[in-house]
Amino acid sequence: MIKAQRGTKDILPENILTWQKIEKTARELFQGANYKEIRTPIFEATELFCRGVGDSTDIVNKEMYTFSVGGQNKDENSITLRPENTAGVVRAFIEHGFSRASMPVKFWYFGPMFRYERPQKGRQRQFHQIGVEMFGVESPSADAEVIALASKFLSKMGIKDLVAEINSLGCTKCRDEYKTKIKEVLKPYLNELCEDCKVRYEKNPLRMLDCKNEDCAKIFENDEIKKVILSDFICEECREHYDSVKKYLDILGIKYNENKMLVRGLDYYNRTVFEIKSDALGSQSAVAGGGRYDGLVEMLGGEKTPAVGFALGVERLYELVAHAEEEKLDYFVVSNLQDKALETVQYLRDKGKSCDFDFQNRKFSKQLEKAGKTARYALIIGEDEVNGGYYTVKNLETGEQTKLQKEEL
Ligand code: HAM
Repeated sequence: MIKAQRGTKDILPENILTWQKIEKTARELFQGANYKEIRTPIFEATELFCRGVGDSTDIVNKEMYTFSVGGQNKDENSITLRPENTAGVVRAFIEHGFSRASMPVKFWYFGPMFRYERPQKGRQRQFHQIGVEMFGVESPSADAEVIALASKFLSKMGIKDLVAEINSLGCTKCRDEYKTKIKEVLKPYLNELCEDCKVRYEKNPLRMLDCKNEDCAKIFENDEIKKVILSDFICEECREHYDSVKKYLDILGIKYNENKMLVRGLDYYNRTVFEIKSDALGSQSAVAGGGRYDGLVEMLGGEKTPAVGFALGVERLYELVAHAEEEKLDYFVVSNLQDKALETVQYLRDKGKSCDFDFQNRKFSKQLEKAGKTARYALIIGEDEVNGGYYTVKNLETGEQTKLQKEEL
């Protein structure tokens, strides 16, 4: 018996209505805010993620589904199933010359992502993201729009009271000074840090703040270290930008908490980062995350273009929403005359009615039972109906029966 792969899930018909509702809500909200849908390939050149997401991240180091395909020189043909979609959307933005378009350029997407992680509640190897990416605007109003959209989407899905966590990572300049200070203060503890943090210490010190290892977390609680972490390190310009983001969020009535430890697991961010979490999700509590990435387009070979966006985990959202109930069909045709049943079903579908029939010539009582479960009306075609040239229509809620001509259905 071959089973679905660990960390993957079938989305069955009984779950699909909620998925469709999530997608419909996203489409309406994002298109209404002038975001255009973009669908990029599920696999990309491995190098895109190494450069884009960053080769000191867990995603690139441990979690990528990478394949070497064809050719003599396998490295040249290394492809990876996308672990996230920002890098792919940036690649498409550059490749199709969107930098020449009138700014901002706004995209939204929905699709599967792949990360080779240890599966647990809220964490899969194939999961889905809905996201938006906005290019070309440095103004903090863009950050505020993106955070507000994430928050609005969740409230439209009936999830209230989630508070966004926000932070500013500053720009390359002020962050470099901060990194140096963090390294200085952590130097005496270097041997006590976990193996991952020892690597992060060299490659990407800020990522240490996000470490889930208990021993590391204890070290960061140390007063002297905490003081550096909580210090106001960002420069004047970044400070003004961050203050404006907060001001706009206040104007929009979006609730947020500031969290200096929020650094995110991808390397491309600068200035604003944010996450929306729910305690109901347990340890994998982030429903959505995002931020500004002003350097990524240039880093991947495009013109310098500021950008900001977020992505939301659909499986995690699914856990939080009230599930949609299946709608009943308009008609279920009850008949032992297969030709009449087939013809009537086609006629009704052409008229835009949802309907089905039994296909198996089972007893009328069995067919009526099925009709009662699946439809609002039973449309009965027996010998009497054929001879009389009418249909008997039974309202399955009230039991009321009427005789109707074809045009009256
Ligand atoms: P991320 O924080 O890595 O950001 O992922 C965004 C969301 O995807 C998470 O908050 C979570 O809900 C969901 N997610 C991530 N990994 C898994 C998993 N293994 N199983 C289930 N759900 C998961 C990004 O991917 C960035 N590209 C977001 C972004 C867009 N930043 C700017 N623009």
